[in-house]
Amino acid sequence: MRFFIDTADLDQIKEANDLGVLDGVTTNPSLMAKAGISGAKNIEDHYKKIASIVEGDVSAEVIATDYKGIVAEGEYLAQLAPNIVVKVPMIREGIKAIRHFSDNGIKTNCTLVFSPGQAILAAKAGATYISPFVGRVDDINWDGIGLIAQIAEIYAVQMYETEILAASIRNSKHIVDAAQAGADIATCPLHTILGLLKHPLTDIGLEKFLADHRKSNQGA
Ligand code: E4P
Repeated sequence: MRFFIDTADLDQIKEANDLGVLDGVTTNPSLMAKAGISGAKNIEDHYKKIASIVEGDVSAEVIATDYKGIVAEGEYLAQLAPNIVVKVPMIREGIKAIRHFSDNGIKTNCTLVFSPGQAILAAKAGATYISPFVGRVDDINWDGIGLIAQIAEIYAVQMYETEILAASIRNSKHIVDAAQAGADIATCPLHTILGLLKHPLTDIGLEKFLADHRKSNQGA
């Protein structure tokens, strides 16, 4: 499973990239606002900066919700950098636009996916990625990881090429469970990636190894 980071914060993107495990970035309008980026020109420049830091795909989300608007905005975003992927909401006009982008060689990430039916429709339209929102499904007391597993099974049976990008990841266990359930990618906040490092027995074990080394090398 590949790792994307789910943020528009450049420092966090650089930190994850420096770790050597980063395969891409996803953003959305809320994450851009959280990073303090506003205004068309600043947003465009910010996408260019992100796309220059990482080699992998960078999802840039359209604001338009009508077909013509999504196509115009998506085509504009796609030419900002070779690794920009156009992020399109799972709505009727979005599906039409995904078909257009797919027919014209522009990569897409269909976002706000909450059901297997939506995942099937996005795959049929030719989406490169779909983003099922694990955390937000859990928030309504449903099963976010179960959704990933169901979509993974359907895509395998039907041999769809669309990749499953598990989104709305809230903790490190979500990453592990998404991998087990068959997600191709998880897009994660930095703290959830770093959380994978942690185990108390690792810390205790390392402390003991170093203490034993110090003891046996005293005065050596
Ligand atoms: C990513 O593509 C999604 O927009 C994001 O993961 C949503 O996460 P949230 O539910 O924590 O806002």
